[in-house]
Amino acid sequence: VAAEKGGYEHFMLKEIHEQPKAVRDTLSGRIAEDGSAVTLGELDLSEEVVRSIDRIHIVACGTSYHAGLVGKVAIETLARIPVDVEIASEYRYRNPIVTDRTLILVISQSGETADTLAALRNAKMAGNRVMAITNVVGSSAAREADHVLVTWAGPEISVASTKAYTTQLIALYLFAAYLGQIKGTIASDERAKLMNAILELPLKIDEVLKTAPAIETIARDFSSWDDAFFLGRGLDFAVALEGALKYKEISYIHAEAYPAGELKHGTLALITEGVPVIALVTQDELYEKTVSNIKEVKARDAHVLALAWVGDEEIEKSVDRVLYVPHTLPFLAPVLLVAPLQLLAYYASIARGNDVDKPRNLAKSVTVE
Ligand code: G6P
Repeated sequence: VAAEKGGYEHFMLKEIHEQPKAVRDTLSGRIAEDGSAVTLGELDLSEEVVRSIDRIHIVACGTSYHAGLVGKVAIETLARIPVDVEIASEYRYRNPIVTDRTLILVISQSGETADTLAALRNAKMAGNRVMAITNVVGSSAAREADHVLVTWAGPEISVASTKAYTTQLIALYLFAAYLGQIKGTIASDERAKLMNAILELPLKIDEVLKTAPAIETIARDFSSWDDAFFLGRGLDFAVALEGALKYKEISYIHAEAYPAGELKHGTLALITEGVPVIALVTQDELYEKTVSNIKEVKARDAHVLALAWVGDEEIEKSVDRVLYVPHTLPFLAPVLLVAPLQLLAYYASIARGNDVDKPRNLAKSVTVE
């Protein structure tokens, strides 16, 4: 087993560090050599069908659901198709409005999650078009969907999903760009800029991972608190949700993510002196707004850690600590923000002496309802 962990103490840590490679593998062969276009012929989705899609329902559970939240922004931005993101165990028991122009997109690392498969099967039975994004080539989701996009994260052993999420994001960005390229909703120079930025991500994740020692110190301090709050707006909020999930599932510390602007409608009542607040501030258009929310929690003496762009020295005035991530398009920030949050959860779990790879009460793949 030690050998399988490749020198790392836990599978989770190994898988966190495998992310640059996993992203490279997921990108491999899917962007034209001159960086001008996405090639997803494997999807077997004709241009005519793409043009007919007028709504997408993304359906998933857990971390895959969180990837879907980023996918919604990616698809709506690049392809201008309205997207709903739903929890599979909810979606399967309601009566969603689906037409022959709706695409049901299930996201599942394992391709075996019971609720996600039930949603997929309901959609198939109703004669709807189903696509799957999955990490397991021979999985039920891969076999039963009409269109499949595989994430090449490699086997993920740790119960807490890490590299699977990151590669799901990549698959979703590629898919969104592919739709946009067929629909003509992204200008070709914009597309080239986006492709280049995506191709630079693996090296930038490498840089982010180098901050692990600093994150370990912060996690040790935070681990003595029984709560942690994750704040952000827009895509920063989508990643905050995943950060809070990671944190609670392996450290067993109560963690909640809140849209920063919604704080004063509830969570602010829980902010007390010294409590850790992790604030994500990479969405340039929302920067001032988030900073004013940070001031609200600082006024209650919270201890604020910001995740911000390298070079953002201004943020240091409003928070207690900063973790910097290398710059990319704000639209792609989730890919770089999640690794520090995974590491924060990992080291908090270690500090508490937990079984990181096998958190209590949780399973890697939930194949029963
Ligand atoms: C379980 C795992 C999570 C995962 C979720 C969905 O809860 O512990 O890590 O995100 O299932 O799994 P899937 O394989 O469908 O992505």
